[in-house]
Amino acid sequence: MYDRSAEFYDAIYSFKNYEKETAKLHELIQQHKRSTGNDLLDVACGTGSHITFLKNNYSVQGLDINQRILRLARKKHPDVVFHRGDMVSFDLNKQFDVITCLFSAIGHLKTERKLGLAIRNMSRHLKPGGLLIVEPWLTPERWHKRSVHANFVDQPELKIARMNISKSNGRLSVMDMHHLVATPKRVEHFVERLVMGLFTHEEYLDAFRQARLETTYDLEGLMGRGLYIGIR
Ligand SMILES: C[S@@+](CC[C@H](N)C(=O)[O-])C[C@H]1O[C@@H](n2cnc3c(N)ncnc32)[C@H](O)[C@@H]1O
Repeated sequence: MYDRSAEFYDAIYSFKNYEKETAKLHELIQQHKRSTGNDLLDVACGTGSHITFLKNNYSVQGLDINQRILRLARKKHPDVVFHRGDMVSFDLNKQFDVITCLFSAIGHLKTERKLGLAIRNMSRHLKPGGLLIVEPWLTPERWHKRSVHANFVDQPELKIARMNISKSNGRLSVMDMHHLVATPKRVEHFVERLVMGLFTHEEYLDAFRQARLETTYDLEGLMGRGLYIGIR
């Protein structure tokens, strides 16, 4: 997962406005947070693009499961502590005022059981009054099979065409991401399969409830995918 595409991650997702998203996130945190500190952990932080802006207001750490992705994040932010870990089971022996898990990374968990474990695990890393903010993946109703997607990068020395047709397997969304990548050295093609859990709104709410978080849902969220905000 993301191993082949890691070095192109920032180029592929350059369409995302991380600065604007982080401004909204900051607003929501200020609105809901009841603890008084500003320690923030970004779980499944990717290459640290939210961290670029979160750093202005929070004392930030990052965590991700993928070593290559973490290497890029560390290069971008030599001043930030990053941990390698699985959101289901990490144990940092520290509590935070805010934990974020953004851009649908939670969908990488394929079962409701793992969703529950991850929410509980993140919640136990929160201070009382701290916030868990999760940007969900799509619900089963919003997943349309056989829709066709493409994303293009057009930089002077890097061209990418990434395409997929959305498929599903029961309650899993399946995306075979075909990448055609051109650099001055070569043109290469590779396929990366992303399999993600399609959880219902009720299943997300239930996971938050089970973790004893007082939860609100922001319908729009950061990019139209909604946002769960739980207070410990
Ligand atoms: C779509 S990216 C989101 C990255 C980042 N939050 C962003 O907004 O750009 C998903 C990230 O989740 C990470 N990931 C997937 N499963 C994970 C797990 N079980 N625990 C921690 N990180 C995970 C991947 O390595 C990847 O960096």
